[in-house]
Amino acid sequence: DATDKGEFRHYMLKEIYEQPKVIAACLEGRISDERILTSCFGANSAFLKEIENIHIVACGTSYHAGMVAKYWIEDLANIPCTVEVASEYRYRKVAVPKNTLFLTLSQSGETADTLAALRMAKQLNYLTTLAICNVPSSTLVRESGLTLLTNAGAEIGVASTKAFTTQLTALLITSIAIASEKGELSAAQQAELVTALRSLPAYVDAAIKQDEAIKLVSEQFANKHNALFLGRGPMFPIALEGALKLKEISYIHAEAYPAGELKHGPLALVDETMPIITVAPNNQMLDKLKSNLQEVRARGGELYVFGAKETGFEEAEGIYYNEIPWVEEVLEPIVHTIPLQLLSYHVAVVKGTDVDQPRNLAKSVTVE
Ligand code: G6P
Repeated sequence: DATDKGEFRHYMLKEIYEQPKVIAACLEGRISDERILTSCFGANSAFLKEIENIHIVACGTSYHAGMVAKYWIEDLANIPCTVEVASEYRYRKVAVPKNTLFLTLSQSGETADTLAALRMAKQLNYLTTLAICNVPSSTLVRESGLTLLTNAGAEIGVASTKAFTTQLTALLITSIAIASEKGELSAAQQAELVTALRSLPAYVDAAIKQDEAIKLVSEQFANKHNALFLGRGPMFPIALEGALKLKEISYIHAEAYPAGELKHGPLALVDETMPIITVAPNNQMLDKLKSNLQEVRARGGELYVFGAKETGFEEAEGIYYNEIPWVEEVLEPIVHTIPLQLLSYHVAVVKGTDVDQPRNLAKSVTVE
């Protein structure tokens, strides 16, 4: 029951722990053994083949999910994709290339700016409108041409957790479907991605098992006033989401930067009082990320590294290291979100803030 916290102290923690189950619910009926079941987009999925461009529009955490999807869509489907916050999109003149899909992301389906953006888009020359949304009875679902529900169940904590990871799951389903329908993926490649997707609930479960270790790390944060999150590639939007979670519920000022931009400004902020949090996947950018982190260490900044296996990081003076279980590269943005959710949760608990109802924020912003 969504309104029952059960054994958990806060809804947010309960919702973090629900992720393996709701991600499985999001996959249910959308994948077969080797492919995406395109019927999940409705009776007529012919539009998938026609898409030549994608405009993603959303707010808050949902916007960060859209930023991750851009990497998947361009990488897997080879289609240009732009991502924009709804409050900007709705007030400018937008150029719409031929055969562009308009894609909104929203947990509630009631965010005023996102709804206004959809209403505007419907007057423009889009191929169709698709909403990835968690609330079946919402205005966004009613007014969109097509819908893919995230099936996360009611989310009560104001800081979005399971809604985000199920949005990412739905976006990966969508990216693979488009890529396959457009002939950018072979049947074997599609089968490999679907097999990875099937393991996702178990991977997320393994990531949640780091909870106790992350709780210990979080105690170092209670007296911090600022934090800097760094990530490269699709881990940059995950860094943005990590920073958003921390500021929302612990009121610590947090920013996120693509690690390569460090030298263009934020490095000036780094001293012994500034913790730097990063998620380090084991990919071809690892060496570049490591050299970014060395620049931070050289200036006395404390590092908190959540690293995949074999990244070669070790605990040392000023370096806290937590290992994240191995996952296929395409799934890293989803699984690597978990330690950042747990970190901000525990920091907020240590600070004694109102975790589920942070000051000045609303679960759903239904007025402009
Ligand atoms: C509010 C919530 C956020 C959410 C954003 C967008 O700011 O506090 O958690 O990400 O609205 O909401 P939506 O329901 O459209 O995803």
